[in-house]
Amino acid sequence: MFTITELSTERINRIVTEALAFANGKTAKIEGEVFCSNLFFEDSTRTKTSFDIAERKLGLQVVPFDASNSSVNKGESLYDTVKTIESLGVNLVVIRDKKDRYFDELKNIKIPVINGGDGTGNHPSQCMLDLMTIYQEFGKFEGLKVGIVGDVKHSRVANSNAEALRRLGAKVYFSGPEQWFDEGALINGTYLSVDEMIHDVDVLMLLRIQHERHDSKMSFSASEYHRKYGLTKEREKAMKKEAIIMHPAPINRGVEIDTDLVECERSRIFRQMQNGVFARMAILKEALENQGYAFK
Ligand code: CP
Repeated sequence: MFTITELSTERINRIVTEALAFANGKTAKIEGEVFCSNLFFEDSTRTKTSFDIAERKLGLQVVPFDASNSSVNKGESLYDTVKTIESLGVNLVVIRDKKDRYFDELKNIKIPVINGGDGTGNHPSQCMLDLMTIYQEFGKFEGLKVGIVGDVKHSRVANSNAEALRRLGAKVYFSGPEQWFDEGALINGTYLSVDEMIHDVDVLMLLRIQHERHDSKMSFSASEYHRKYGLTKEREKAMKKEAIIMHPAPINRGVEIDTDLVECERSRIFRQMQNGVFARMAILKEALENQGYAFK
């Protein structure tokens, strides 16, 4: 699984349903000895750890891979690295890389490759856990209003979520600094100021400022960003009674969101992380079943 675009709506719904079943106590164990490895060439806490836990819960043998001391540092290409892992007998890999669409180089790899995030492009497993979190709350997607606020241009989460949510019948609005919003994003949503959307959205999805993907320094301070685009205590009070706050994390506390709101009643930020394990179990199980592996 590389992108949301490649997934049919039926398949998205199937993965979310399976993830919800895992969250409600369903278990599954793979039959036989199956190896997997998580190849992360860009930093991660949540995605890598939750894939690791999901794999162990499904009974997979997790083969450690540390990019910082791998032969990539001797100039080995991504393709040769993955081909090597495949040749050694690993049956599935999860990959994160800084490069957009790194997976285009991997067409000759036979084992399933799950995208753990590619540059500013796609983050399909984050999308699945976000959909699952929204569904747990509202029991539907159709007709929901979702505001995605922040560094939209550099966010693979915004790309994947906006596409999936629109296809599932939600209305998507974007906000944040206009220089971080481009024509491409407009295709999947409408631009509003934070104060225009705050009263109306069912889901407020905040995004981290992706400093590592910016060419130049931010033209405003963190406090200025918070005042203009962040979730302040005043803005939180203006939200609808049932509306929820989401953030894929890591969080810049006091910038995208007031630190006291990170764990407030309507925040689902740590629920998202919990759901990450279940969503990834569903993704892994589906990928392996498609290859003929059986679970009991
Ligand atoms: N949300 C997310 O992808 O977090 P990590 O970068 O820690 O994996």
